[in-house]
Amino acid sequence: MMSSASAPGKLMLLGEHSVVYGHPCLVTTVDLRVRVCVESIPGDRLVIRTPALTKAGREDTINLADLQEMTSFPAETGFVLAAVREFQRAFGRVEGLRIVTEGPEQSYGLGSSSAVTVATMGALFGLRSLPLDLHRIHELSYAAVLAVQGKGSGFDVASATFGGTILFQRTGGVVEKLAVPDLPIVIGYSGKKVSTTNLITRVAELHQRHPGLVDGMFSLMVDLVLSGRSALLSANWSLLGELVNINHGLLESLGVSTVQLAKPIYAARESGAFGAKLSGAGGGDCMFALVDDRHREAVRDAIAAAGAQPLELATNVEGLRLD
Ligand code: MEV
Repeated sequence: MMSSASAPGKLMLLGEHSVVYGHPCLVTTVDLRVRVCVESIPGDRLVIRTPALTKAGREDTINLADLQEMTSFPAETGFVLAAVREFQRAFGRVEGLRIVTEGPEQSYGLGSSSAVTVATMGALFGLRSLPLDLHRIHELSYAAVLAVQGKGSGFDVASATFGGTILFQRTGGVVEKLAVPDLPIVIGYSGKKVSTTNLITRVAELHQRHPGLVDGMFSLMVDLVLSGRSALLSANWSLLGELVNINHGLLESLGVSTVQLAKPIYAARESGAFGAKLSGAGGGDCMFALVDDRHREAVRDAIAAAGAQPLELATNVEGLRLD
């Protein structure tokens, strides 16, 4: 028996960091799909092959009985292992499995961990012929991600699961799918991968030192997300651009921007973008600019000249799918 599923990457539009505190955020999917194939094999083993392991000329084998006791997860296979463990906890012992993951060479901090977790969960649902209950898949995948990285709001897992562009809020389990057209976006990769967990901790420390100030910023971010939702639904890109700029200012105030992110952000704005901001935890990873067709090329060139790698990726793409 065999089953295969895929899930996309994500791009945070508005509301990073405040979403960790139970506030809403807006996130869209990007066309960086991770595919996972699971196959039943005899015995109690879990055999895993990922692109990185294949490059290193190996595959990993783990005893399924040991999985339950695991307290820390290996970097290369942690999200897959944690997904299998959450699945076992929910639906009982799985038979021996061979799991093969395939994905883009580079993930740019655009959600490959959440995508591989959700795709593994989806493929396991497929293998057991369970109905593809997206809310259940989201919850189990979120538990898996927390087991590996300890912190996070689950917005990335929600994005990979439900797809499209969503308003997500952990408090109250809100996942509102927004009917939006393709977003006029150019992404810039700063060239540096960051640890989301470290950035969440830094913001938590700032919050502890200045609770009133940081809560005030979070409350402004809530306003930005709600106004951003209306701007998205009416495809009002110049309004959304303004909101994006304001959100970036608040992220600067939280201390999570860097010179490598700020340079392409300012360059994009000066070249005619509606707005630009960092996306995600900060400290590195990506920025994006909202831009019309007339300015797209100039903005892309400006982002490159400012030291970031421009990425032209389709956004608002389909979420989890059985292949
Ligand atoms: C990271 O991409 C976005 C954060 O809000 C963390 C999270 O929501 O899990 C900083």
